[in-house]
Amino acid sequence: MKHLESGDLTTYYRDHWVEIEPERLARYESMFQWRDGHEALIAPAQIAEGQVIADYGCGPGALAIELARRVGDEGRVIGLDINPTFLEKTQALADQQQLTERVETKLIEDDRIPLPDQSVDRILCKNVLEYVPDPTATIAEFYRVVRPGGIAHVSDSDWGAVIFEPSGERFARIMSAAGVAFRSPLIGRSLYGMFRSAGFSDIQVQVLASADTSGALHPVLTNMASYARLSGQVEESEITAFLDDIDRALKEETYFAVLPQFLVTGRV
Ligand SMILES: C[S@@+](CC[C@H](N)C(=O)[O-])C[C@H]1O[C@@H](n2cnc3c(N)ncnc32)[C@H](O)[C@@H]1O
Repeated sequence: MKHLESGDLTTYYRDHWVEIEPERLARYESMFQWRDGHEALIAPAQIAEGQVIADYGCGPGALAIELARRVGDEGRVIGLDINPTFLEKTQALADQQQLTERVETKLIEDDRIPLPDQSVDRILCKNVLEYVPDPTATIAEFYRVVRPGGIAHVSDSDWGAVIFEPSGERFARIMSAAGVAFRSPLIGRSLYGMFRSAGFSDIQVQVLASADTSGALHPVLTNMASYARLSGQVEESEITAFLDDIDRALKEETYFAVLPQFLVTGRV
């Protein structure tokens, strides 16, 4: 596996979403499925029939399709992403589920959202702002495109608030090296202030955390290992040892992981 050149390190947070190796793409597609447990992640957005909803950073489309089911024939969902393959997958999923009329997709090419001012009732953004070049500018765009009375709802991680057992220096080194894949790895704690600065009112914040004892977060940890490997900042032997630590802990039933999600909701 090649390591990134030092110039590439500075843009890897974006590039790794545009050029995705088949193995990682397959892992993302299974990670990003809609699950019943996600209900709590979108509840504050108050989704209802007839709404026009933008899904910012829609990935392969699982959330966008779930939203399309909920908005009914009068509603519409616009999936937005920087990766054209994700947009194609979102559109294909909509076609498969006979939701074509309710779903459209648009490519994000810069900080600006390709939608008119005050044109959507909701904008949702799930696990994306940690990757954008300037989250303050993106949240200002959310404020611009939401209609008065509408809602912007963001959920994201904060990689400084992750708990993993077995913990220790190896985990810390892997996480530090994997930081190349994020523009703002500590975004979770900044979202509230960013929403305030953007002008949102009635801002609600929740932190949702559940204990993973069965390995549900294994694909996330595997991604961290692959990011750390590409960074060239840790030896291959250490990455292998990290992955072995996880497998051993799962076998011995000592594995324990928590990846809190920071939810921030604001009204325009
Ligand atoms: C972790 S995935 C989340 C996908 C989806 N929101 C979900 O939760 O299933 C991050 C997504 O953000 C997209 N992304 C990365 N940088 C972006 C940017 N600057 N603007 C919009 N989307 C971006 C990626 O292409 C990817 O689809």
